[in-house]
Parts: sequence; structure tokens; C-alpha cells
Amino acid sequence: MLYIIISLIGLYCVTKYVVYKTNARCKSYVCLMGKTALITGGNSGIGLELAKSLACRGCTIIIADKNDASSTVKRMIKETHNPNIFCETVDFASFKSVRKFAEEFKRKYDKLHILVNNAGVGYLPTITEDGLEGTMQVNYFSHFLLTHLLLELLIKSGPSRIIYTSSLAAYKTNLLKKPLVGNEIQPDVQQYMPYANSKTAGAIMSKILSKKLRNTGVTTNVYHPGIIYTNIFNEIYNLPFGLDLIYVNLLKLWTLLFGKNIEEGIQTMLHLTTSDEVENISGEYFAECRPVWQPKPVNNTIICEDIWTLSEEYVKLTPDEKVEGVLKNLSVKKTENDYL
Ligand SMILES: *[C@@H]1O[C@H](CO)[C@@H](O)[C@H](O)[C@H]1NC(C)=O
Ligand SMILES: *[C@@H]1O[C@H](CO)[C@@H](O)[C@H](O)[C@H]1NC(C)=O
Repeated sequence: MLYIIISLIGLYCVTKYVVYKTNARCKSYVCLMGKTALITGGNSGIGLELAKSLACRGCTIIIADKNDASSTVKRMIKETHNPNIFCETVDFASFKSVRKFAEEFKRKYDKLHILVNNAGVGYLPTITEDGLEGTMQVNYFSHFLLTHLLLELLIKSGPSRIIYTSSLAAYKTNLLKKPLVGNEIQPDVQQYMPYANSKTAGAIMSKILSKKLRNTGVTTNVYHPGIIYTNIFNEIYNLPFGLDLIYVNLLKLWTLLFGKNIEEGIQTMLHLTTSDEVENISGEYFAECRPVWQPKPVNNTIICEDIWTLSEEYVKLTPDEKVEGVLKNLSVKKTENDYL
């Protein structure tokens, strides 16, 4: 008995050490004074931790969250001594709300250097007022829309960066079989499927955007933070019964024993938002502070283009709001200025 206990403790220590050693850390000490960052979902979890970390480097922070973040902001200002922290309430399950927020944002702030598309839900099995599946809309479509609406500002403020929080789940998607399930609730046998698909779609968005934004001074990258125990975990894996339960409980156990804490969980995100090393890198999928394999559908250019076009339709972009429209209008303005 004693031997078994000792071996188990030994095994735990060795695994813990190995996992700890593979957790990469952001090595940048760049100061962010004069920079502005917008973090969606910045009122909790890794979004909040990133907000604090950027705030103490002197960055102006705007938290966009579905919950009122004003008490968080007060606490952060006290903690970091950075007075330039603000918050806005946005419902990411509503395009109307996202559009209203983007307008307000452009009215209040004249710069945007870092856009962190991070807000997400694990499972929201409703059809939204826009006729789309809830999880996909919050995690993906709303960020697709928001990024477009803020694109001109990002380009004008350049160099600037767009970062999307993906997930390990993006590797276990069925997006290839069902190109962009946007307006149908999937059978909830696999509750994580809409989540996984939204996180893959985010990676696709980033990849295509990186091509469209070449030479504009805006980079766009995706990352997965690794396994961290946050609320989202329970939302996705809240299954009543079935085989998945064993798998899920094993995953939970693993997460409890070896998962990252929040501070470890934001390192790749911090690297992407701050480090000079990645200033020219775009269209990559990061983990542990370095580019890794893209989820499979991202390699399929035809599927990616299809998903992009469908997304433009679903979020109802006007021609002027599409990337091509934004770039065209900017070059027109530029030549007008040159002329003057
Ligand atoms: C990024 O590109 C600029 C301009 O080409 C160059 O000066 C800079 O050294 C590059 N940075 C890195 C980290 O490669
Ligand atoms: C995707 O393409 C890249 C480069 O073209 C390749 O290195 C990678 O192995 C491919 N990934 C998959 C899953 O096919």
C-alpha cells in the first residue's frame, strides 16, 4: 500500500514538473504607454488577467463585457495606478449591440493598437435575435463583425495587432463536414461541438484576414491558452450522462491536478500582444508562445473562403464594411489628403 502511495506521489511530482516546464512564458518587458487595447470578455478569467497585465505596462484599456465591469475597473485602477482603464457593456449575442458599441468606441477613442477578441461562452443553445446559434454568434460571428467595424481605426493606428482566443477544442471540430453551422442547434450529444466550431472559425477568420491585411501594418494571430480551469470548462462539459462523462471527468481531473493557473494561462496572449518578436508575424496559430499546427480546416483554402463569404452574409456587412471596402475608402482618403 505504502509503495503504491509513494509511487503515485512520485508520478504526480514528475508529471507536474514536466507540465510546469513546458509552460512557456512571455519574455517581453515592453512598455505600452500611448497604446490602446480593447479586450472583449475582459471582466473575468484570462481576459481580466490580461487586462491587468497590460494596464500595469501603461496601456490604455477598454474592457468590453456582457456584465457591467465598473467595479472591476475601479479595483484595477487602484491596483495598477493606471487611471486609463474604462469599460463598456456589450451583448455579444446581438449584432445590434455590437454595432452600437463599435460606434461608441470610435466616438470616444481615436486609437486602437491591440484588439483582443476573447469573449466567449462554452454553450449557449439558443437562436439569437439575429437568427443564429448562440455559441457561434458570441464566440465567432460577433467578433467577425466587431473586427470589421474597427478595421479602419486599427489600420490608421498601425502598427496594430488583432488576437483571437481559440481553444484546444478547435482541433476537434466538425466544421469540415458542416461548413459553418450558424443557424441550427446541433444535437447536444456533443455539447462542445458549437464551441469547437466557433473556435476553429475564429482561426479561419484570422488566417484569411492576415492575407487580406498584408502590408497594412495590422497583424492577426490566434492562440490557444492550454488547459486552464475556468467557468467555460463547466459550461461546455455540463453533460448529464453518457460516455462523454468519463472522458470529461478525466479531463477535469487532469485540469485540477496539472492545469495552468490564470497567470500561466495568459502568457501566450501576453506574448502576442506585447512582444517585438512577433511584430511581423501574422496568420499563425500560437501555443506556448510559438507558432504551432493550424487546426485542419484552416489548411483548406476553399472551405475557408466559403466560411468567410458566409460570415459576411450572416453578419450583414455592407460593401463599405468589408475589408476590400475599408481598404478602398482608406486609399481614396489618402490620395485626397495627398492632393490637399
Ligand atoms: C519587422 O520588419 C521590420 C521592417 O521590415 C524590420 O525592421 C524589423 O526588424 C522586423 N522585426 C522582426 C522581429 O523581425
Ligand atoms: C497545414 O499546412 C502547413 C503548411 O502548409 C503544414 O505544415 C501542416 O502540417 C498542415 N497541417 C495539417 C493538419 O494538414
